Amino acid sequence: MKIIPVELGRRSYAIYLKSGLFGELGRLYRRHELGEQVAVITDRTVHKLYGAQALRSLKAAGLRAQLIPVPAGESSKSLAWADRLYERLIRTGVDREATIIALGGGVVGDLAGFVAASYLRGIAFVQLPTTLVGQVDSAIGGKTGLNHRLGKNLIGAYHQPRFVLIDPEFLTSLPPGEWRSGWAEVLKYALIQDAELFAQLEALPPGKVLSADAELLTGIIAHCCRIKASIVSEDEREAGRRELLNFGHTIGHALEAVTGYRRFRHGEAVAWGMLAAAWLSREQGLLAQEPWGRIERLLSSFELPRDLSGCEDEALTAAMRRDKKSRGGQIRLVLLSDIGQAIRGQAAGDAELRRAFGYLRSRAAGS
Ligand code: GLY
Repeated sequence: MKIIPVELGRRSYAIYLKSGLFGELGRLYRRHELGEQVAVITDRTVHKLYGAQALRSLKAAGLRAQLIPVPAGESSKSLAWADRLYERLIRTGVDREATIIALGGGVVGDLAGFVAASYLRGIAFVQLPTTLVGQVDSAIGGKTGLNHRLGKNLIGAYHQPRFVLIDPEFLTSLPPGEWRSGWAEVLKYALIQDAELFAQLEALPPGKVLSADAELLTGIIAHCCRIKASIVSEDEREAGRRELLNFGHTIGHALEAVTGYRRFRHGEAVAWGMLAAAWLSREQGLLAQEPWGRIERLLSSFELPRDLSGCEDEALTAAMRRDKKSRGGQIRLVLLSDIGQAIRGQAAGDAELRRAFGYLRSRAAGS
């Protein structure tokens, strides 16, 4: 088993990574100083596939466990769903010693994490990510959040998990869109700080990028977890280096918001956002033509959903201005000076953003 530490003083924790580790959930839980009562929050799709097994493993370890499913999809990341979960926790007598386990992808992790951060002023929390996005990014680092109808993740809290359990075997049940979404987050790490990882992804034969073999995949997940752990250990509250992890996200979140969180998976929107951010980096003279060409080629091979209808300039820039990273209405982006080198806090004017959106629309139209 690989054990990757996230160093945060008294709130430090481990990321455990091994194929088949899910079967050891109860035993792994018991190795930590955590209470006897567990509420597993999951989505209905994951519930059908893995809910019973999670419950069996926890009960076999002598724990009092219940499963609480929510609908799959971004619409569950809402105050309305948080409220339903509070009600269920209160009605079933979940107390301060209890632990919430998030079993699912980024949506479940963000929602369950927010509920754990706020219920009874905060109870223990464990992340059990079942998607590639969750395993390489969202389950690590303590960001939790809900969407508001005016923007993504506008409500949230930092609440670090007590441990993260990663089992790459979950990924065998992922649909292609979820693979794409996860690979976009992997590519993000490559673009912001790891040119070698970029070259490794670039060298994968076409098609392979969505179905890497188990050993290669486990190695890549571990590598991404180490990068994320080191960034979070250095800058938990996003006052500096952690901002780099938002590469592609400001535009990506805007695409998600203007399409009602229904058209794109998170990583797919981020992939479009990274393409636009790389294009802007070249426009601003930060990124040379050669790395730009490589980035465009690799992202184009992702077969992203191409329907950008309704993604008008005004709506996108308005959504970007409401982004948490904007300051005084000024849109700030992470841009690239090379593959593996990112610069944060770069201003982007409305005219160049409109040109970047125009570029995305032309790519989406296949030209
Ligand atoms: N997903 C970006 C971060 O955790 O900072």
